[in-house]
Amino acid sequence: MEEKVINAALLGLGTVGTGVYKVLKNQEQEMTAKIGSQVKIRKILVRNLEKAAAKVEDSSVLTNQWEEILNDPSIDIVIELMGGIEPARTYILAALKAGKHVVSANKDLIAVYGKELLDEAEAAGVDFLFEAAVAGGIPIIRPLKQCLAGNHMSEVMGIVNGTTNFILTKMTQEGMEFSDALALATELGYAEADPTADIEGLDAGRKVAILASVAFNSRVVFDEVYIEGITKISAKDIRYAKEMGCDIKLLGVARCMDDGIEAYVCPMLIPSVHPLASVNDSYNAVFVHGDAVEDAMFFGRGAGELPTASAVVGDVFDIVRNIQAGCCARIGCTCYKKLPVKKMEETYNRYFLRLQVEDRCGVLAEMTAVFAKYHVSVAQIIQKETKVEDCAEVVVITAKVKEGDFRTAMEELRNRESVRKISSMLRVYAK
Ligand code: NAP
Ligand code: HSE
Repeated sequence: MEEKVINAALLGLGTVGTGVYKVLKNQEQEMTAKIGSQVKIRKILVRNLEKAAAKVEDSSVLTNQWEEILNDPSIDIVIELMGGIEPARTYILAALKAGKHVVSANKDLIAVYGKELLDEAEAAGVDFLFEAAVAGGIPIIRPLKQCLAGNHMSEVMGIVNGTTNFILTKMTQEGMEFSDALALATELGYAEADPTADIEGLDAGRKVAILASVAFNSRVVFDEVYIEGITKISAKDIRYAKEMGCDIKLLGVARCMDDGIEAYVCPMLIPSVHPLASVNDSYNAVFVHGDAVEDAMFFGRGAGELPTASAVVGDVFDIVRNIQAGCCARIGCTCYKKLPVKKMEETYNRYFLRLQVEDRCGVLAEMTAVFAKYHVSVAQIIQKETKVEDCAEVVVITAKVKEGDFRTAMEELRNRESVRKISSMLRVYAK
């Protein structure tokens, strides 16, 4: 009997595109038994045909003309792996309008235009799937939309950027300073030539926007996520955090509270006993809390050629199954609520504060008076032995305080003559 074939096209043949091409090849033998059909890559959109030719068995599949894919009625699935906003957005919208299913790993696009893309897919009665857009190879979008649908999720948080986790791991385990750890990440190919999106937290922010939208059934866009990167973290902060029983991780946190959604990315102290504290190197992990499931954690490779391709191909196979069962567009946009997203100033957190103060009697009392004025309660305070230019170094951990109050307290402290420098101000993860 002749094997059934579903035709697909790839847009982009970079790291992930090449991975998808390889994974589909590796699956060829079992594919029909597994999903009832073969998936054939009929066309691949690239910019440079010559450069791409070395990556494929048959270079006749390569094209630099998008219209050849859009106008080919035999192509059922478009797999967008070019990245960026344009022309990806235009191509995806056109493909959906033309009745083609789309798979994308493009978090930059989905974190801003997710609603538009999902609405277009719904209108056209096709699937738009994006498992690889968050935490690469780790399944999290489908688990949230399907396996965990019987929950009211209250928290989804985790380590969703491998580059920064690698850097922080090196700083923790080998005492490296940020710049040396970044240089090593670049040398080993973890960090991009321009690492800004990773080290400034933007990449993680996009993933948090998508995670929050899916987990809480209410749209959160990239601009609504508060973001701080890891560039100001020093080896000393990490050492002091360790002394206090904590590690420092770049965490993406989204919480569904009674008064709205909290969504932020920042370096945070997390107790060393928390499962996320032992997620090291370039690994990612997402931790969720639902009213029925309680805690669940998803761990694995958040990036890379084959791990990311694993998630993309999973989406493609899902679509093939839907096509065969005649049930496409079964799970589209799940944002049926409109919850407000809280400003960072309205959130409550614990803080780790490292500051240089004049080394004289009464300075601590002065500091704590400022704290008291703005409802900042001290949970731990340590004066370090080290003296820098006649200053004492003081480390404080606060109880939970409203961010707005804490910032005002910091402004006032900064203006005090006795406070020479506020060296670090980091949040401490607490339930
Ligand atoms: P990449 O290596 O830079 O590959 C992108 C490819 O798309 C390149 O081959 C590029 O061609 C091609 N391209 C870009 N614009 C194009 C256009 N207008 N027409 C035709 N081809 C075009 O990127 P990647 O790492 O594979 O990432 C792809 C997507 O997956 C991004 O959305 C990214 O955020 C997402 N993602 C990546 C990872 C990962 O581990 N890399 C993980 C999760 C998600 P040129 O070579 O000619 O520039
Ligand atoms: N640059 C990202 C990371 C991978 O370091 O995790 C793509 O999302």
